[in-house]
Amino acid sequence: MAVPERIIQEYKTLITQIRQNDELYYKYDRPQIPDAEYDILFDRLLKIENAHPEIVAPDSPSQRVGAQPLPEFKSVTHRIRMLSLQKVTSKEEFSDFDRRVKEGLETGHDIEYTVEPKLDGLAVELIYENGILKVGSTRGDGARGEDVTQNLKTIRSIPLRLSPSVSQKFPLLEIRGEVIMRKSAFIKLNDRMIAQNQPPFANPRNAAAGSLRQLNSKITADRPLIFYAYGISSNDIPDLPTQYETMMFLKDEGFLINEQIAKLIGIDSVSAHFSALTEKRPGLDYEIDGMVIKVNKYAEQIKLGEISRAPRWAVAWKFAAEETETIVKDIIFSVGRTGIITPVAKLEPVRISGVTVSNASLHNEDEMLALDIMIGDTVIIRRAGDVIPEVMEVIKEKRNGNEKPVSMPKTCPSCGTSTVRPEGSAAHRCFNAACPAQAIERIFHFAAKGAMDIEGLGEKLATQLVETGLVKNPADIYYLAKDKLLTLELMGDKKAQNLLSAIEISKNRELPNIISALGIFGVGETAAKTLAEKFGEFDKLARAQYDELISIEGIGPTLAQSILDYFANSGNREMIAKMKKAGVGFPSYKSARKSTAINGKTFVITGTLSNSRDHFKKLIESAGGKVSGSVSSKTDYLLVGDTPGSKLDNAKKLRVKLISEEELMRLL
Ligand code: IVH
Repeated sequence: MAVPERIIQEYKTLITQIRQNDELYYKYDRPQIPDAEYDILFDRLLKIENAHPEIVAPDSPSQRVGAQPLPEFKSVTHRIRMLSLQKVTSKEEFSDFDRRVKEGLETGHDIEYTVEPKLDGLAVELIYENGILKVGSTRGDGARGEDVTQNLKTIRSIPLRLSPSVSQKFPLLEIRGEVIMRKSAFIKLNDRMIAQNQPPFANPRNAAAGSLRQLNSKITADRPLIFYAYGISSNDIPDLPTQYETMMFLKDEGFLINEQIAKLIGIDSVSAHFSALTEKRPGLDYEIDGMVIKVNKYAEQIKLGEISRAPRWAVAWKFAAEETETIVKDIIFSVGRTGIITPVAKLEPVRISGVTVSNASLHNEDEMLALDIMIGDTVIIRRAGDVIPEVMEVIKEKRNGNEKPVSMPKTCPSCGTSTVRPEGSAAHRCFNAACPAQAIERIFHFAAKGAMDIEGLGEKLATQLVETGLVKNPADIYYLAKDKLLTLELMGDKKAQNLLSAIEISKNRELPNIISALGIFGVGETAAKTLAEKFGEFDKLARAQYDELISIEGIGPTLAQSILDYFANSGNREMIAKMKKAGVGFPSYKSARKSTAINGKTFVITGTLSNSRDHFKKLIESAGGKVSGSVSSKTDYLLVGDTPGSKLDNAKKLRVKLISEEELMRLL
């Protein structure tokens, strides 16, 4: 039966609306409609697509949310091999490279180069056929990579289609670039992983690779990846005679290209650019490990050719090693928001990869003992993954006998309460709820983005508020009066008024924000959202039992216990009551997108799952779904466990959606 015109029109409008909002959200961080409204649009889109699969557009926004998990990645042979780069580490070595280029081109003239940062992520290739993104793959061994098309489609900075004129002109376009994760996003992701009791990633590169190489593209969709394009694999496109023009072309087609790119002539300007990039490096929100220098003109590249899998026309100028020696001037103990006491080495300031380092966390007692570090020691430090400076080792030979050993403090350096190292934990903690150091951190956390988002209330103001006694716990923020604020240093009338308005606005935050703001140990933004979705009402969460909590995907025993402990504490309960009294809304929460994913849907189960079928039946039913015994055309999803039976074959024949246990938990 033909799809009614009315539906087709509605479908097209929905795509346009969603695309516009995606762009506002992901490019400019400025959505125009509330999340709930967006979810309604998206649900309607999915509904139409489910009912009329024949009209699904290859570049529909639904492609961004991920697809069915794959059993394994297919392999993709690159039409043109993905090469690696020769390396140089000094101006002399770069001059040698430049000399070889000149010899190869039989010229005495200075060479025109395009220079780009060497991004530290993973290389991928995107194949557009008639303007539509068809295949995306990893570099692999250069000849063959993995088909990660579904995963790449979830990355918003990768266009799903190109402009009509380009599509016509270039029926086949192979675009290469680097998938990376920004440093700031990496830190947030790790917070989330820790809150979910999952091991954090060691550095942004690993996080990017781990996120892209997921068989379940829904997980990739949830990870903050970006794609920087750096070239087109075949350089025989007549309109684009140079690398630089190719980059401008890619930019016009909606790709993200790196802003540090430049076109330069001769060794000296390249070398000056390298120094400038070294200076800029610490301030960039992504990791780079050097600069790639490419002969700009394709005609010259072709003439130079390649040797042992690396082009003769390009080179990577790598930054120098990032380890250095310094002296430990002191070891102090800092108290975080949750009372964890962390040993921190105060260092003789040194510059390392362009930034001055004067502190390094020693993490905890065990790490400190393993290093055998003392005040006065000479140590080697490294900027691990370029984000956090780390003490690698103590140079014991440099000890002169004046070094002073340290041990974890028996009492909290902020409030003097006895510290405890709970069994099974590496951390020492201060459990005094009224500890000032914790109060500052708690208030800062409470007011941060993703929590109550109170503009103007940063670390500095939080410190002032606590130190002057105006605020003892987050609820006090809602009782601040203007005359009191004006007694603070550097607080003028306008600033005070803005702060009070921001505080007023924050009373309307949604439930996930509120839960995250409370700073329950281990509950970050993701867990807060899960809890809000599961309980819907704040008071239900506050009354939840242990069993109820650990039955939730993503909430393990430690987190469940931590939530119980939080609400069992009378100080915390009083604080919440005080927030309510001040007018903080604690609105109920319902995520439209999540609930309709199961509501009204029919499931069939096959194979062995991590729990009884009855357990999963109950879960599905509690979310409004049905479970039936056999696959038919009415089945919406087949939940597939290990060693599935004939139901799987039937489902495939009937094109029923297959879903893994993990995926079901996400829908729930
Ligand atoms: S060009 C033949 N440009 O470096 C040219 N590569 O060793 C090879 N990379 O696997 C690629 N940033 O992952 C190029 N601006 C950039 C790059 C870049 C990072 C990586 C890429 C590749 C490796 C080559």
